[in-house]
Amino acid sequence: MEPIQDINILDTELRRERAQENDAINTDDLDRPKMAGHETTGARQVYIETYGCQMNVSDSEIVASVLENGGYGLTHDVEEADVALINTCAIRENAEQKVRRRLDMLRAKKRKRDRPMMIGVLGCMAERLREKLLEQEKRVDLVVGPDAYRDLPRLLHEADTSGQAAVNVQLSKEETYADLSPVRYDSNGISAFVSIMRGCDNMCAFCVVPFTRGRERSRPVSTILRECQELVDQGYKEVTVLGQNVNSYHYTDDDGTDVSFAELLDRISQVSPELRIRYSTSHPKDCSDELLKVHAKRHNVCNYIHLPVQHGNTEVLDRMRRTYSREQYLDLVDRAKALCPGISLSTDIIAGFCGETEAQHQDTLSLMREVEYDHAYMFKYSERPDTYAARKLEDDVPEDVKQRRLEEIITLQRSISEVRNANEIGRQHTVLVEGPSKKSDAQLCGRTDTNKMVVFDREDYEKGDYVNVRIVDATSATLMGEALGRTTLQEEAERLVVG
Ligand code: SAH
Ligand code: SF4
Ligand code: F3S
Repeated sequence: MEPIQDINILDTELRRERAQENDAINTDDLDRPKMAGHETTGARQVYIETYGCQMNVSDSEIVASVLENGGYGLTHDVEEADVALINTCAIRENAEQKVRRRLDMLRAKKRKRDRPMMIGVLGCMAERLREKLLEQEKRVDLVVGPDAYRDLPRLLHEADTSGQAAVNVQLSKEETYADLSPVRYDSNGISAFVSIMRGCDNMCAFCVVPFTRGRERSRPVSTILRECQELVDQGYKEVTVLGQNVNSYHYTDDDGTDVSFAELLDRISQVSPELRIRYSTSHPKDCSDELLKVHAKRHNVCNYIHLPVQHGNTEVLDRMRRTYSREQYLDLVDRAKALCPGISLSTDIIAGFCGETEAQHQDTLSLMREVEYDHAYMFKYSERPDTYAARKLEDDVPEDVKQRRLEEIITLQRSISEVRNANEIGRQHTVLVEGPSKKSDAQLCGRTDTNKMVVFDREDYEKGDYVNVRIVDATSATLMGEALGRTTLQEEAERLVVG
């Protein structure tokens, strides 16, 4: 098997495109190691390509599991595939365009081949585009929404035998795929995603996700803990707990106890003292002091939160229907910094939302200076059909103004990241080694607890090791370090307490 699989190349392309969208800010992601993938042979081979967010990557693992159970084999080589599935994203116009281009390429490939290949669209574009994709454009054989993946074997069979496209885009109020063991199709064997809730009820004015993924629902606690335990048993060292609004997780256990996200995180942290825990994406409205205290109390819950603010002006936040003001957000940041000293924060920011004035844009810049994020994903507003903004607000910031404001945001974040990373020089961090650095096999890379990518000489360290590293140099994207020795999370926690 070719070690650089299509999905990884695409993943890297995605990261690069995202990085371009954000300019150079996210180039640290390009340092991620090559991943080993999961392949099997079945009656027919399935190839899966994933676009969009981590939830979609996690969903592709569910799809792989359903299909493997249905007797299909998995391949990372599209040339070998009898079925090619594209797991799509609809978050911005350019995300959809990218998927359409890719579908065109696949259809061209299909025409040139001497044996058949079914093409299927999964995920967030499925619902809205089903008619267009199927009828007007006759592009695909299969359209399956995010809550209908259990139905895939039947749909594939139906499409195969009828010669007609098969469709299921039904959204569900209950489906969490809780009982399925995801197949780690695209994994480095060290870090895994664990999906704990699906859908979103927030209806932020700009966002298409509630329409593509449906209502919010949480997965039973016991199934989450079991999956984490299985990952530990298989040698995984890090889980990223996922949900669209992950910290609004709540589940009433069999014995009647209400389990909040903070409680769940606390329980996950006790699965193994050597398992690192991250989560994404949290909404500021659900970031409780109880949750912050779990970060402070548990050494294996990372000292890092992705806490998207979206904008720095209260009026715009109101129009975005984010349910917090600038002041409330800044207050939360103060509490996080006080309860979790040294905490690292990252954010998402939208430039040029409906009605944004120059002064309101300046408020975003001043909020960024005040918070000093380590990292940010920055986007130009892109109107999405059906959303509140599309129906009620005018997309009135001219394209060139949006672009200029985005560039100002990117430039500022780069300088903040530069200073924050320069401050790391001389400090020590526990790095979980993810694999060889992209640039050189003589170097390894991995992340700090605070989610910063560090590159250092390989020596005799290996993937999956926790290594104590002293930072010796930094760019706005990556830290360079020198290894001081292998360690464990517990050892480091004790050292910090004693120190
Ligand atoms: N559930 C997560 C993120 C969902 S989408 C959350 O609530 O934070 C990821 C990011 O894409 C969002 O945080 C937002 O910054 C951006 N985004 C969403 N819709 C967008 C749109 N219409 N135009 C531009 N950016 C958008
Ligand atoms: Fe979209 Fe808002 Fe839900 Fe995030 S919280 S997925 S931005 S509606
Ligand atoms: Fe895209 Fe769907 Fe994720 S729209 S960002 S893949 S939830």
